[in-house]
Amino acid sequence: MAPKTTPEVGGMGHSIKRKEDPRFIRGKGTYVDDVVLPGMLYLDIVRSPFAHAKIKKIDSTKALAIPGVLAVITGKDLEKYNLHWMPTLMSDTQMVLPVEKVMYQAQEVAAVLATTRYGAADGVAAVEVEYEPLPVVVDPKKALEPGAPVLRTDKKDKKDNHIWHWEWGNKADTDRAFTEADVTVKQDIYIPRIHVASIETCGCVAHWDKVQDKLTVWMTTQAPHAIRTVFALVAGHVGLEEHKIRVISPDIGGGFGGKVPVYPGYVIAVAASVLTGKPVKWIEDRMENLQADSFARDYHITAELAAKKDGTLTALRIKTLADHGYTDAAANPSKFPAGLFHVCTGSYDLKAAHVEVDGAYTNKPPGGIAYRCSFRVTEAVHTIERMTDLMAHQLGIDPAEFRIKNFIKPEQFPYKSALGWEYDSGNYAGALRKAMDTIGYADLRREQAEKRQRGELMGIGISSFTEIVGAGPSKHFDILGLKMFDSCEIRVHPTGKAIARFGTKSQGQGHETTYAQILAEELGIPAKDIKVEEGDTDTAPYGLGTYASRSTPVAGAAAAVASRKILDKARKIAAHLLEAAPEDLVYEPGKFSVKGTPDRSKTIQDIAFAAYTNHPQGMEAGLEAVSYYDPPNLTYPFGSYICVVDIDKGTGEVKVRRFVAIDDCGNIINPMIVEGQVHGGLSMGFAPALYEEISYDEIGNVQGGSFIDYLLPTAVETPKWETGNTVTPSPHHPLGAKGVGESATVGAPAAIANAVVDALWHLGVRHVDIPITPPKIWRLLREKGITE
Ligand code: CDP
Repeated sequence: MAPKTTPEVGGMGHSIKRKEDPRFIRGKGTYVDDVVLPGMLYLDIVRSPFAHAKIKKIDSTKALAIPGVLAVITGKDLEKYNLHWMPTLMSDTQMVLPVEKVMYQAQEVAAVLATTRYGAADGVAAVEVEYEPLPVVVDPKKALEPGAPVLRTDKKDKKDNHIWHWEWGNKADTDRAFTEADVTVKQDIYIPRIHVASIETCGCVAHWDKVQDKLTVWMTTQAPHAIRTVFALVAGHVGLEEHKIRVISPDIGGGFGGKVPVYPGYVIAVAASVLTGKPVKWIEDRMENLQADSFARDYHITAELAAKKDGTLTALRIKTLADHGYTDAAANPSKFPAGLFHVCTGSYDLKAAHVEVDGAYTNKPPGGIAYRCSFRVTEAVHTIERMTDLMAHQLGIDPAEFRIKNFIKPEQFPYKSALGWEYDSGNYAGALRKAMDTIGYADLRREQAEKRQRGELMGIGISSFTEIVGAGPSKHFDILGLKMFDSCEIRVHPTGKAIARFGTKSQGQGHETTYAQILAEELGIPAKDIKVEEGDTDTAPYGLGTYASRSTPVAGAAAAVASRKILDKARKIAAHLLEAAPEDLVYEPGKFSVKGTPDRSKTIQDIAFAAYTNHPQGMEAGLEAVSYYDPPNLTYPFGSYICVVDIDKGTGEVKVRRFVAIDDCGNIINPMIVEGQVHGGLSMGFAPALYEEISYDEIGNVQGGSFIDYLLPTAVETPKWETGNTVTPSPHHPLGAKGVGESATVGAPAAIANAVVDALWHLGVRHVDIPITPPKIWRLLREKGITE
């Protein structure tokens, strides 16, 4: 679709350069660690070497003797103010600092406050802690066995490690469909723990100003308003009421869901600032970030799919065990303990489905964050895309043909899934056909057949995913009771320039550019004349923040609605200036003119000036509006990815030779930014498919706690992405847009895993869990006797 506005105005569809980049490229961004205040103190944290142990004694004597060390804060100190525990976003409880025992390796044990960062680190090394090790539970299956040590002894009535059972869908219909099915497939799938590993670790600067009676916290948070409310709920009783708290999220170096939770370090820094009356900085290092911050995934899934002989899919049945570590600190909407996992019927017209999920406690850090996915959608997509492929191969039908046969058809939208979601729009076959044409699917299948004759291992994998983003309609979505709307406030200045403030917070996604483009599209004010601000609770309207690709579906919609409120007033002012009736004016972006006499017109800049200098009698001055947008539904972006792999029989290495990604996120605001989002997302899908995993040994030692063991692919390993798109607008979003930030992370792993299984199917391989590492494949090849 051709853009409605000129390149100078830069509305939707223009690839204008990112407004935020000049400061980033020049190293002039302001991240939390750039905030330096006079008299600032530094906090560092003593962490547990044990995964489960009683704390018998904490001796601070040697630490306090180090020059510059001012205090060692323990759980007992916080207990005096009832601040040693805090609520998690899923209404579980999490220790700020322990009083009795630690529950995972690298858990916070005590905090050292010093006048320098080095002094604080020296203090940490000098704190002496006496532990008594306790039995460790690492495997969530064993955690649920009778007789397993009960971990949450703080919960008086807790007699086991089971957190919750949750189920969704129609069990009877699903079981019947399985009984009646001609073909069924069943597979255990493990989606391992991984870490967001964003460039910037977490941290904060807390400043309690006694004179102003005000706490300001600069912090790495994706949801500043919600955090302010949580702080007030936790510490209101000691005088930190919400109006006295200002949370500022400055520039953030990547969040990906990992910067949604409240980490103990934030709370200890705030407590330390309140106790000392001085600003306190806490910045975690890379190993603390990898070992102690919330993790993603860790789902043990057993999935079954049923079909008729002719290849029509009929039903899906899933049982899952979710390892949450020692507390359920997932950032899911309250109503859905397994997030939006029940979008697991994916892009297929399945008549029946039933999902069961159980949560378990183990001696690991809290898990369950939504790592660049809308609350467990990656887990859902990986499962359905692996299962669909398994069924296609089982039936001997080409996986592309099989998908096209079973897709929800364009005319079926809005489509109600067997698990209750109402998909807004889609053309799944359109995206898959485009991907097949782009990659030359038929030729690749011919090449594969020839290579197989020669004993070479080549595979082609498809993933045709459906995402679910834009949480969410407030009737279903809240976090800790806070409804999941989002907001935009616009002020147009007399000279026709504007400022727009949002309840979201960009962590690299380019909101300063794309939100300005939405205003440019609606108001006709050039994007360069619009300042976008986010992340300051004292100035921005209340919103739930940026995660789960919700910014465009929710705050982007708020920007359009607020702009339209401004246009309503602008029309009246224009009518006054043109001495015409408001209904006799026609609007094109940036200009009202009188019907039939286009040269009688007023620009938005004329109107803005008049709003402060010559507004009609009886009308309030000014040109401002605010919208708190409650979406009527979620948006359902989708795409089809095709991946070609070659497997080295000597080393077991999987090489991604080609990867074509066709995405559909409805109407696009900035094509260049969308392409960038897809590139980044694909890389973050490629990484867990082949490299990333955090595992634990039997006594709870973390494996993968530094970048020596936790493998991130670099630009050298990452394939060249071939991207494209189709456009199927969302019918309910004011701009027809859907989210896109996470689509590629969600969709990519299954395409890679399916390609690997496709390469090995003729050898009897039915499934390989991610990460698909060379040793894993090499062992498989050796079992089959075909290693070189
Ligand atoms: O919530 P988050 O910003 O992570 O995700 P998003 O709403 O999917 O947006 C990611 C980036 O892509 C933002 O800068 C959006 O404005 C942009 N985008 C776009 O230009 N067109 C779309 N249809 C969707 C997103």
